[in-house]
Amino acid sequence: MTRIVYVNGEYLPEAEARVSVFDRGFLMADGVYEVTSVLDGKLVDFAGHTQRLARSLAELGIENPMGAEEWLAVHRELVARNALTEGMVYLQVTRGNPGDRDFAFPDPAVTKPTVVLFTQSKPGLADNPAAKAGMKVISIPDIRWGRRDIKTVQLLYPSMGKMMAKAAGVDDAWLVEDGFVTEGTSNNVYIVKGGRIVTRPLSNDILHGITRAALLRYAAEAQLTVEERPFTVDEAKAADEAFFTSASAFVMPVVEIDGAKVGTGAPGPVATRLREIYLDESRKAAV
Ligand code: PDD
Repeated sequence: MTRIVYVNGEYLPEAEARVSVFDRGFLMADGVYEVTSVLDGKLVDFAGHTQRLARSLAELGIENPMGAEEWLAVHRELVARNALTEGMVYLQVTRGNPGDRDFAFPDPAVTKPTVVLFTQSKPGLADNPAAKAGMKVISIPDIRWGRRDIKTVQLLYPSMGKMMAKAAGVDDAWLVEDGFVTEGTSNNVYIVKGGRIVTRPLSNDILHGITRAALLRYAAEAQLTVEERPFTVDEAKAADEAFFTSASAFVMPVVEIDGAKVGTGAPGPVATRLREIYLDESRKAAV
């Protein structure tokens, strides 16, 4: 089955989709994105993703090409056209194609944003065996820019971090700045010590994860204590449990950091329970 993608108002077979070489997303990484999971053919945490998209666009002064209802309609249409039951919808909005290369932003009255969406089918996304085994991570310096709260398509360093992890024979990397863990290459991170969940507070240093927001809500409902404060790699190594969250991984246990076992070296009860709660509640609330 040919994948159908969305480009600037049209649904096209992927081979027919075109974006200009002058698009600022391509030349300047001048664009933002969202990734929304699909379970049972429905969109998970959808309202959160459209709200964050609106915020990312506003922070960069890019016009939001659609309202929340229109975004929902396009997502649903793409899910339907691709018969997607489990996987992701990727959405990207760039500052568009001004017809030439220039550092200065083009006039938004003339140059309209480029909008691209596509689906990724991932059967078994929820029933991921990695969640039972747990993941291994290394720590690396966080050398990204200072506005990590904006979900831009500048993903070179996170990609390099994933390659460093791969070269080290592990699954992912945790980023460290001024001695404290900021986040994972593409996820928000947590440790559990003495029953308390610790995670870095929101600021410009990290992406304001939609899965993070849902997880903290569910943790509060389950009477779990959450402490929002930065933690070090040493503290993480000495924790009872560690885990991370993202739209594509949901809640993922971490069992090793820089070669040191976390807790027993197996996924812990808090992360395991939170993953179950997150998946149950997300399926119920999916649109
Ligand atoms: N990544 N931090 C970073 C740097 C991320 O790239 C992501 C998401 C998150 C988690 O945010 P959320 O819970 O809203 O997915 C945190 C997506 C999944 C990606 O790049 O594929």
